Amino acid sequence: IGRNYIYRKSVDSTNTMAKSLPQDTPEGSLVIAEEQTAGRGRTGKSWESPRNKGIWMSLYLKPDILPQDAPLITHVAALAVVRAIKSVTGITPGIKWPNDVIIDGKKVCGILTELNAEMDCVNYVVVGIGINVNTEKFPDELKDVATSLLIEYRKIGTHKARNDTKGLIDRKHLLAEVLNHFEMLYEKFLSGEVADIIRECKKLSVTLGKSVRIITKGGGFDAIAVDIDDRGALIVEREDGSRQAVIAGEVSVRGV
Ligand code: BTN
Repeated sequence: IGRNYIYRKSVDSTNTMAKSLPQDTPEGSLVIAEEQTAGRGRTGKSWESPRNKGIWMSLYLKPDILPQDAPLITHVAALAVVRAIKSVTGITPGIKWPNDVIIDGKKVCGILTELNAEMDCVNYVVVGIGINVNTEKFPDELKDVATSLLIEYRKIGTHKARNDTKGLIDRKHLLAEVLNHFEMLYEKFLSGEVADIIRECKKLSVTLGKSVRIITKGGGFDAIAVDIDDRGALIVEREDGSRQAVIAGEVSVRGV
């Protein structure tokens, strides 16, 4: 993973660029940029990607899987980011199902998985990962919901991060850790060893056990998040005791 890579100072979106790569692009190719001018988040939102402050990257994957198993790759990515952050900073983040990496209630990383499939055949999957690394200050509309590794690291002052001379978090080191962990977990996923991955995601989940509001296109309903199944779906329980599997990509979950 990441041995073949495209590096740019500035792009519109690494996901958009990865999606336009030719079909013969090698599995595991990395697109990475210092800045995105039109970074994309889920549900049509934009993603702030200031120059030199974060890791804005996309992986181009060609897994031999069914389209319905593709959401699991988001969990693989979230876990890889959690492990990488832990090894570089000593901080253990949580995962807000399905795709947010959280520290102290705020989002430090978002993941956007885009699938290109026909019938039962996956052509490619692009996994976009955005990590706020050295952002010192967020704009007012984001400061209550977003954080960066630098902000969190300074709060607790562990001495684990390999800082460069300006006291910043070393993005290259973090990137190498993300790629290493992603490679290990992705190989596990491809060989069908999904149970371990889900178990670790459940342990790190900040969503399980919480009241959530499931927001769908047609409206929404309140429920309690009780489990994550082996396809990565969130199992929620409604007030009448009935259970339902919620698939990533169909809904957004809000804490209530
Ligand atoms: C979200 O939380 O809504 C997902 C955010 C994903 C952001 C990353 S940054 C790299 C890649 N390129 C994009 O345009 N988006 C993803």
